Amino acid sequence: MLLGNGTSLPFTKDNVPSHVAVIMDGNGRWARSRNLPRLEGHRRGADVARNIVEWAADAHIRQISLYAFSTENWERPQDEVNGLMALLATILTAQLGNMRKKGVRLRILGDMSALPTITRTVIQRTVAATAEGERIDFILCLNYGGQQEIVDAARTLARQFHEGSITEEALDSFRPEDFRRLLWRDTLLPVDLLIRTGGECRISNFHLWDAAYAELYFSDLFWPDYNKEAFYQAIAAYSERERRFGLTSAQIKSKPSP
Ligand code: FPP
Repeated sequence: MLLGNGTSLPFTKDNVPSHVAVIMDGNGRWARSRNLPRLEGHRRGADVARNIVEWAADAHIRQISLYAFSTENWERPQDEVNGLMALLATILTAQLGNMRKKGVRLRILGDMSALPTITRTVIQRTVAATAEGERIDFILCLNYGGQQEIVDAARTLARQFHEGSITEEALDSFRPEDFRRLLWRDTLLPVDLLIRTGGECRISNFHLWDAAYAELYFSDLFWPDYNKEAFYQAIAAYSERERRFGLTSAQIKSKPSP
C-alpha cells in the first residue's frame, strides 16, 4: 500500500483490520528505567496515542480503540489517577482542532459517570465537536472493563425479561449476536486485531466479548517507545493471518470474497 507521501507499506488496503484495539502498556517501566516519575511515562504515552490514530487513519483502518483507563485503574495511587484524568483533559483540549482537521471522530467506551467533572466535560465537548469526523473513529476506553460490560448487558436482559419486553421463547432462541446488541459495543465494529505493548501477554479485561475472535499481537516495546514502524509491522502480520472463525482452512479458501 502506498501512503500519500509515497511511503510504501507492507500490506494492501484490502487486508487491513477494520477495528484495531490497543493495550498501551509499559508507561511506568519506561519512566522507571529513566528515573522519571510514572506520570512522565503517561505523558510520553499520550503523544504516542495521538500519533497512532493518524497512523491508523493513513492505513485506512476504520476504528482504533485505546485502553486509557480500566475499571481496575482506580486502585492506583491517587496522584497517578488524578494525573491521568488531568492529562486526558489536557490532551483532548489541545488536540481538538487537529482531530477536526484530520476527520477523527472521538467516541467513548466505558462508564463516564465516575470521571471527574472537568474530564467528563472536556470529553463530552470533544465528542460533540468531532461528531462529523468521517476518516476514523478514535474510541477512547475509559473506566472500561470487559467483565463489567458483560454484567451490564446481562442485567439489561434480566430487566427486559422481568418487564415482559422479551418473552421466554425469545430468550430460548437468544444468540450471541442478540446479546452483543445489549453490550456497550453495540455500534462498534468487531475488534479484528488486539495489540498489547510492554511485553506482557494477557488481555487484562479489555474487549472480552470481541476477544473471542480477535487476532492477538504482542510487542515487547514499552508504549512510549512504540512507533509507526512497529505498528505497521503488526498490521502486516495481521494481513497475513488466516482468520477461520471455527471453520477449516479449505472452507475459508473456497468462500467467495464479500
Ligand atoms: C499502562 O501502563 C498505561 C495506562 C494505565 C494508562 C495509559 C494512558 C495513556 C497513555 C494516556 C492516554 C491519553 C490519551 C489521550 C489516549 P502502566 O502504567 O501499567 O505501565 P507499567 O506496566 O510499566 O507500570
